[in-house]
Amino acid sequence: MKARIGIIGTGWVGTSVAFSTLLAGHARELWLHDQRGAVAEGEAMDLSDGAAFYPRCNVRAVPLAQMREADIVVLAAGRNGRPDESRLDLLRDNARIAAGFGQALAGFGGVILVVTNPVDVLTRVVRAASGLPPERVIGTGTLLDTARLRERLAVRLGVATDSVHAQVVGEHGDSSVPLWSGARVGGVALRDWPGWRVDEEAALALTVRRAAYEVIQRKGATNHAIGLVTAELIGAIVNDEHRLLPVSRVQDDGVALSLPALVGAGGALPVTAPAMDRAEREALVASSDLLDRAFTSLAG
Ligand code: LAC
Repeated sequence: MKARIGIIGTGWVGTSVAFSTLLAGHARELWLHDQRGAVAEGEAMDLSDGAAFYPRCNVRAVPLAQMREADIVVLAAGRNGRPDESRLDLLRDNARIAAGFGQALAGFGGVILVVTNPVDVLTRVVRAASGLPPERVIGTGTLLDTARLRERLAVRLGVATDSVHAQVVGEHGDSSVPLWSGARVGGVALRDWPGWRVDEEAALALTVRRAAYEVIQRKGATNHAIGLVTAELIGAIVNDEHRLLPVSRVQDDGVALSLPALVGAGGALPVTAPAMDRAEREALVASSDLLDRAFTSLAG
């Protein structure tokens, strides 16, 4: 099945989401909206000019109201982070923007994907502003951190990324929690893998957490990896894949953060939490507390 995909915000991230989504062939209609109307139009024209090279899709710039007719709306509007700024520092500016779009999508029948940072807090903001059920407001969350962790482990161990089963949960950001105790390489626990040392884990976790800062310091933004991650998530929804993916959503306790969810046409449904050792459980609680405080600070 191919869907009508809307993207709000055609900056670095929104355009990369558009590009990855087009190449993956998930969209039948791709609608772009930006407060800089001419920019959205220019991006739509540019992408349309390449139509010979991706599966058939109609790309055009649309007014915000049109987004209500989409199957999936990606929220990528907001300002991006500076190299010295954590994702939570971006909070106030982007929360105001996200709440406006959430209100504009009240009663929307599809799935909203939140990409703008700080993605976890904004997922909660958009959930509240839109009034949609939590399974239909999904943040890309630690799907990107998970991709980064798997990539680094794959390189370190000399195996394909596909053969590394490891995930990051919690905040997409500085308090993210890699689940080392459950990580597997093929069918083997990572911690039993020949040559793996537990004392490598802290440094590797840090490279995953620092990844975005390293990129932003050099090129001013991150866009390609998050674009690919978002297109993958769109595919899981459009094709009702029932994939277990670590994505952000409002959890039972009201805080939005990433845990594995069953992702398909209905959005991201909760599943049994993965096994964690004590340190991982404590780190997840700390991450949740931090995100809860960040959300609460918005009211002040
Ligand atoms: C990153 C941004 C999208 O981690 O948060 O690349």
